[in-house]
Amino acid sequence: MTERRPVRSYVLRQGRTTPAQSRALDALGPRYAIPFAPALLDRVAVFGRSAPLVVEIGSGMGETTLEIAKAEPATDFLAIEVHAPGVGSLLRGIEAAGLTNLRVIRHDALDVLEQMIADGSLAGIHLFFPDPWPKKRHHKRRLVQPAFAALAARKLAAGGMLHLATDWPDYAEQMLTVLSAEPLLENTVEGFAPRPERRPRTKFELRGERLGHPVHDFVFRRRS
Ligand SMILES: C[S@@+](CC[C@H](N)C(=O)[O-])C[C@H]1O[C@@H](n2cnc3c(N)ncnc32)[C@H](O)[C@@H]1O
Repeated sequence: MTERRPVRSYVLRQGRTTPAQSRALDALGPRYAIPFAPALLDRVAVFGRSAPLVVEIGSGMGETTLEIAKAEPATDFLAIEVHAPGVGSLLRGIEAAGLTNLRVIRHDALDVLEQMIADGSLAGIHLFFPDPWPKKRHHKRRLVQPAFAALAARKLAAGGMLHLATDWPDYAEQMLTVLSAEPLLENTVEGFAPRPERRPRTKFELRGERLGHPVHDFVFRRRS
């Protein structure tokens, strides 16, 4: 009997990991990466303390992740990314900066949220520039759907923040519609939010702006 394949929000590409990224995965993975396991994360064991925890979904190459974790040492960050080269780069960044408040899991973020994160436990969730899946027949792969909004809201503590950004106008509209319809979430502003200072602008974003792609941020709060 074949198992039904779930619709994934990513496609894993092979063979583009640089030697430095591969070395980082082998040598630094055991130190800074957490293996996926279908059991709640022991936060104190992982970070050596009890601090507010922010999860980032799809950290990519990890530039934003590293900058925010450096700027906010009192908060712990868990980056979740499926793409091996990105995880390799982030591991190198964690090592270079000596960060103790940032760890990474190489796995589907939806499984991690469901199975490793307790309900009502997160100070924040970041989702920056998720894959836009522009073709209509691929829209079902977009992460921000009603089930995602419900899952994210359930994992946030009361007052916890869900912060998203996209440079894809119709995905921005979808985000606003989907998040506004989730009863456990409230928008912190009317419509789109101005870019919060804490989210640094990446090279990718600056290039997009030069090409005339407007960037929209959303900051929703979990109701109590
Ligand atoms: C367009 S990139 C943006 C990366 C980064 N956030 C940035 O702003 O540069 C989207 C990333 O999300 C990752 N991704 C997509 N779906 C994911 C999932 N379900 N779990 C973990 N990572 C995912 C992809 O591998 C990709 O690296």
